[in-house]
Amino acid sequence: MGDLRTQAIDAHRFLVGQWNTAPSVGIILGTGSGEIAESIEADVKIPYADVPHLPTSTAIGHIGQFVCGRMAGANVIAMQGRFHLYEGYDVDLATLPVHVMAAMGVRHLFISNAAGGVNPNWRVGDVMMINSHIDFMYRATPALGQCNDSGRPRRRSDQYDREMIRQAFGHARNSDFPLYQGVYASMLGPNYETRAEYRYLKKIGADAVGMSTVPEVAVAATYGLKVMAMSIITNIAKPDVLAKTSGEDVVDAGVIAAPKLKSIVENAIRQ
Ligand code: HPA
Repeated sequence: MGDLRTQAIDAHRFLVGQWNTAPSVGIILGTGSGEIAESIEADVKIPYADVPHLPTSTAIGHIGQFVCGRMAGANVIAMQGRFHLYEGYDVDLATLPVHVMAAMGVRHLFISNAAGGVNPNWRVGDVMMINSHIDFMYRATPALGQCNDSGRPRRRSDQYDREMIRQAFGHARNSDFPLYQGVYASMLGPNYETRAEYRYLKKIGADAVGMSTVPEVAVAATYGLKVMAMSIITNIAKPDVLAKTSGEDVVDAGVIAAPKLKSIVENAIRQ
């Protein structure tokens, strides 16, 4: 197997062998937003199973392939599906693709995920721009991301690029679709939260909760990548409502959110 560095070199060599292009943009697509990959003018699609050291993605709704090609005029490498810690992968394996993307030349990383809405103002299908996070994976999250070049602790909220966020909100306003921003809480999962946990997350300032993204952001930070991350709200936590919400459950949040996500990412690439 070898160490992380060797694994990243092997995987990088393999990918470059399949697609000899230097992408400037990386995209990691979570549950429900995989269809954005369809709008990439693809040169090649590479199943994770073919890439040395990468596991096959097993989470529901995740196809498990790299889509390499062009989007909004840029060379992009997109991950259609990601690796979650709750699937049993250790954090180095789960974030190996981010190391590889950085080695290929990626400078901007766009990330999407599915998340539970903790902020009572959110609705299923809303898109929440992550402007900060609360890391409940902290023992699993790579420590690397927390130091800057001089070895001092990084201000972690700096990892979400303010300028890109500002542009995304300008774009959403001009295009007349709603976009929200807030704090993402990362849990190890695999279970959804208890009523008491949702209540607690709301109290400490989380707006959405999910089981991914933070390890990827931490690794991206070690390479100085500019990161934009967005949550698709797939369910609303109502810890104080006893009846189960049903109507909302049937709504396919991804279908509502995908055009907004796509529009934001394309606009950001053009800028
Ligand atoms: N909790 C954690 N992860 C999630 C949720 C949730 O409510 N919804 C989608 N991913």
